[in-house]
Amino acid sequence: MTNITIRRVEGDEMMEMFYLLLGYAFRASPPLQSRENWLPLQKNSYEATFLVLFEDDKPVVSAAYHPMTQNVRGHIYSTGGVWGVSTLPQARRQGYARQIMSALLNTMREADVAFSLLYPFRESFYERLGYTTFPQPRIAKFNPATLAPLLKYDFPGKVELYTLAEGIAEYRAYLQRRQAHIHGMGLFGQWSEAYLKEMNNRWVALAKVDGQMVGAMLYFIEKLGGPMPVIRFYYDHSVAKYLLLEWLARHADQVAEVELQLPPYEQPETWLADLHPKLEPFDPPMGRILNIQQIGGMQVGSGQFSAHIRDPFCNWNEGLYQFESVDGLLKVTPTDRADCELTIQAISALVFGTHTPADFALRGWGNPSPATIATMHQLFPPILPYAHERF
Ligand SMILES: CC(C)(COP(=O)(O)OP(=O)(O)OC[C@H]1O[C@@H](n2cnc3c(N)ncnc32)[C@H](O)[C@@H]1OP(=O)(O)O)[C@@H](O)C(=O)NCCC(=O)NCCS
Repeated sequence: MTNITIRRVEGDEMMEMFYLLLGYAFRASPPLQSRENWLPLQKNSYEATFLVLFEDDKPVVSAAYHPMTQNVRGHIYSTGGVWGVSTLPQARRQGYARQIMSALLNTMREADVAFSLLYPFRESFYERLGYTTFPQPRIAKFNPATLAPLLKYDFPGKVELYTLAEGIAEYRAYLQRRQAHIHGMGLFGQWSEAYLKEMNNRWVALAKVDGQMVGAMLYFIEKLGGPMPVIRFYYDHSVAKYLLLEWLARHADQVAEVELQLPPYEQPETWLADLHPKLEPFDPPMGRILNIQQIGGMQVGSGQFSAHIRDPFCNWNEGLYQFESVDGLLKVTPTDRADCELTIQAISALVFGTHTPADFALRGWGNPSPATIATMHQLFPPILPYAHERF
């Protein structure tokens, strides 16, 4: 009989697993990329927890997470960013990926992680594991010549341009400041900084007013007359936004199209007359509550309700809880009565602000009454999250 074990691997053994498992699942092959080609990823993975499932002594499945911080309704939590979920083809369809995900969820809980984020290969697989889908971010495609009217404005401020390697410290500090204001925004720690340092192939444009950084965007230019992908675009206020757009206008005679990646809450079609952006969605992440006892402190509306939470994959979350607003902040306490049943998908969706509780009964996520649904709307008003990091 095959003996199944799951354990953490580190150091050189981890690099060997990248080569054996991730190489087949995530890269073009044959041939498998050489072991040396995995070195940069390994160097950036010292903060990762990497689990491998072995059939006897043979590694066949992997899953990993990186520690992140994440803003959820104005409070910064610890979040586990899950990546590297792979099964060799001969071992697929035996429930191994689900098994290693279960082990990873346990590992994250032991590390006091409150939430988890991931980018799914298929949403239904991870929805069964408790994750719910975020709204789709969008790419706004437009001709930079349509921004030409901005060139006549006299904005109080300027844009400074650096390679990412040069501007990394200022850019990173700015992202941390913005994170406090953007619901859903996740940031890696050391890993991301080390990774970005190696990415010398990005420009970072910093908008400044009175010497203070008030906006930043990250972009590259593919070729003369080609597209100009803008992969990050953040600003503190309107002046900062239009300073960055004016910078894009300066490329009217250089690039054919700006491809601006934006959070789902942005409405670029209203920024300037005749901009007429083509909006294309791109794949959103999924999120889940990992430890319900750790989600207190976020900014909520008013009211209270109680629920019997179901979470078969993270059974430490199962039980009766009261969710209430105390001075505008969420308080979660164990209780002995429940207004309704809720799955972990339902409570995660409420907290992230992404689903209406009126849908829960139809999704098989619970049975809140109309009165409880009304309270849920008050306590967790709808809000669109944006995860920022992609992995
Ligand atoms: C995606 C991937 C990791 C899945 O691995 P896996 O070990 O086959 O996953 P599981 O066996 O746990 O589950 C896969 C499906 O097989 C089904 N399954 C599980 N045991 C089964 C069995 N004995 N017989 C038939 N089907 C079975 C599961 O129910 C699941 O289907 P569902 O989501 O519709 O319920 C694997 O296909 C892979 O490595 N793909 C390439 C890399 C990739 O995309 N990774 C994901 C990144 S997010």
